[in-house]
Amino acid sequence: MDKERTFVMIKPDAVQRGLIGEIVTRFEKKGIKIVGMKMIKVSRELAEKHYGVHKGKPFFEPTVNYIVSSPVVAMVLEGVNVIETVRKMMGKTDPQEAGPGTIRGDYGQFIGRNIIHGSDSKETAEFEIKLWFNKEELCDYTRIDEEWLTE
Ligand code: RTP
Ligand code: MG
Repeated sequence: MDKERTFVMIKPDAVQRGLIGEIVTRFEKKGIKIVGMKMIKVSRELAEKHYGVHKGKPFFEPTVNYIVSSPVVAMVLEGVNVIETVRKMMGKTDPQEAGPGTIRGDYGQFIGRNIIHGSDSKETAEFEIKLWFNKEELCDYTRIDEEWLTE
């Protein structure tokens, strides 16, 4: 079982609403390892690169405005199948459709204020981790509970 890494961003609304701890706790309790974490006031340039695949769509400008509106918490998470696991934990893009028990389902109400971002594929994760973090900002380490998480 190969480990992979994913990029996660706690979006401005979640930071403003005091949800950083709640969200980080969910990943920690699941046994997902945090290998990078920082708070950033995102530049327009970075936000536009991050959401570059959506350029030209009607929600592109509002989404960029949302991401630059207040600091975010950027994280790199590591684990087996972590990209898919995090997407499942986040829930559907629109919090109105995200199920209870998911982060968006529990904490959000509207698609333009949907709490959290997570990479949607291996390729996207690689691109986003490089975009947001330097190599020196990522930590290789063993968590003491790892042997109890795996069979
Ligand atoms: P994200 O990239 O933020 O993790 O979200 P996602 O994969 O679930 O959804 P995506 O299609 O990549 O959309 C990126 C972000 O753009 C905003 N959005 N607004 N008004 C709309 O129809 C609409 N669609 C997307 C959301 O903030 C979404 O997270
Ligand atoms: Mg996306």
